[in-house]
Amino acid sequence: MTVKFPENFWWGSSASGPQTEGRYENDGKSESIWDHWFQTEPEKYFDGVGPEKTSRVYKKYKEDIQLMKQIGHNTFRTSIQWSRLIPNGVGEVNQEAVRFYNDYIDELIANGIEPFMNLYHFDMPFALQEKGGWLSRETVEAYVVYVKTCFELFGDRVKHWFTHNEPVVPVEGGYLYQFHYPCEIDMKKAVTVGYHEVLSSAKAIQAYHEMGLDGEIGIILNLTPSYPRDEKNPEDVKAAKIADAFFNRSFLDPSVKGEFPADLVEIVKDLEMLPEIHEGDLETIQNNTVDILGINYYTPRRIKAKETPVDHTHGPMPDDYFDVYDMPGKKMNPYRGWEIYEKGIYDILTNTRENYGNIRCYISENGMGVEGEERFINDQGQIEDDYRIEFVKDHLSYVHQAIQEGTNCVGYHMWTCMDNWSWLNAYKNRYGFIAVDLAQEGKRTIKKSGHWYKTVSDNNGF
Ligand code: BG6
Repeated sequence: MTVKFPENFWWGSSASGPQTEGRYENDGKSESIWDHWFQTEPEKYFDGVGPEKTSRVYKKYKEDIQLMKQIGHNTFRTSIQWSRLIPNGVGEVNQEAVRFYNDYIDELIANGIEPFMNLYHFDMPFALQEKGGWLSRETVEAYVVYVKTCFELFGDRVKHWFTHNEPVVPVEGGYLYQFHYPCEIDMKKAVTVGYHEVLSSAKAIQAYHEMGLDGEIGIILNLTPSYPRDEKNPEDVKAAKIADAFFNRSFLDPSVKGEFPADLVEIVKDLEMLPEIHEGDLETIQNNTVDILGINYYTPRRIKAKETPVDHTHGPMPDDYFDVYDMPGKKMNPYRGWEIYEKGIYDILTNTRENYGNIRCYISENGMGVEGEERFINDQGQIEDDYRIEFVKDHLSYVHQAIQEGTNCVGYHMWTCMDNWSWLNAYKNRYGFIAVDLAQEGKRTIKKSGHWYKTVSDNNGF
């Protein structure tokens, strides 16, 4: 044994409601933006598989929790679907949803798995999207009512809450790079959406603390360390810093420090795209920072100074300030098209220690999506995913090193427990410790990595 983690380390995985639960007759769920988009443009989704056909967790959660136990989980994160709990976004609470989430939470606890709940995972109720979604201040107010409802209903048992998962993604996907609904390109809207998400997070934290529940609340951010092509080239360094402001510090700074990064504010001001800030907003953000930070890490961002001409077709874009650097020789996950750079996780953790007050944190997602894993099925019907074991081990070694150096990192969650539905990619890339066979009503089979994870959890290291 060479790598040993601190006592009570969280071993588990993460998932989300919209990617796992599925839709069933009389379940009372309304449409989220994903359900709606699939109805209008199904061809956008890989193999035409939509969000109603996820891993059937709504029906199978009891079986799934037994499997989580078998692969050594002591913790597990999913999300409550707003469109399930409060189908219109505001107003009546769906009692079927209350029953489902209560049972799910109770079953996890009864099996020694602590539930972590995220409150927003890209899944705006369509009724609110029609009124502007995160562009509208009304959504912020509706969200506060929704999260309070969650705290009241489930806060006696759920002790780890998260206001958002990767809030930068709805900004990028929905309003800049067109991979989320409403699929627009509009920097001004992107800024407003991001601002309202930050504000909603602070208001949720405020509400949680005011209720005096004995748990903690944080946010989950996908941090993509921004590396300059050449550290000795000031133009590259400057460009990398701007990319970092757009994609990391935009949410990291307000969430942990209670303020927006000055360089980003400067850019947005110059563009005359500052959002509408109401009196008291900035105080709310300042006074309601996170108790804990969830860090999702998959891939770094390689940046060089702008060399290509600025494209003015769609108005300003973050990329006006930098170019992506295609570093020769980088290690790739070809299925997802993401670079694998294990040390990135260490750099993020070091940054939180050195520049963010060593905030209590955990790795809330990390993982490897692979297409066509049936290739690796052995005689016993098990997927031998040694590449996943290697991926997790390599990242965990760096997490361990950061902890040894004093970073306050208290757990590791893999994305994901069982293969799930992934937005426009649907079931293309499989991420799970457990395989899901869609042709056999979602039959589950633990992969080699799942059995390996159990030994890591049992030994608290490897
Ligand atoms: C994270 C999200 O971005 O990465 C998940 O929180 C997502 O929802 C996961 O599924 C993997 O990314 P993708 O796009 O391959 O599904």
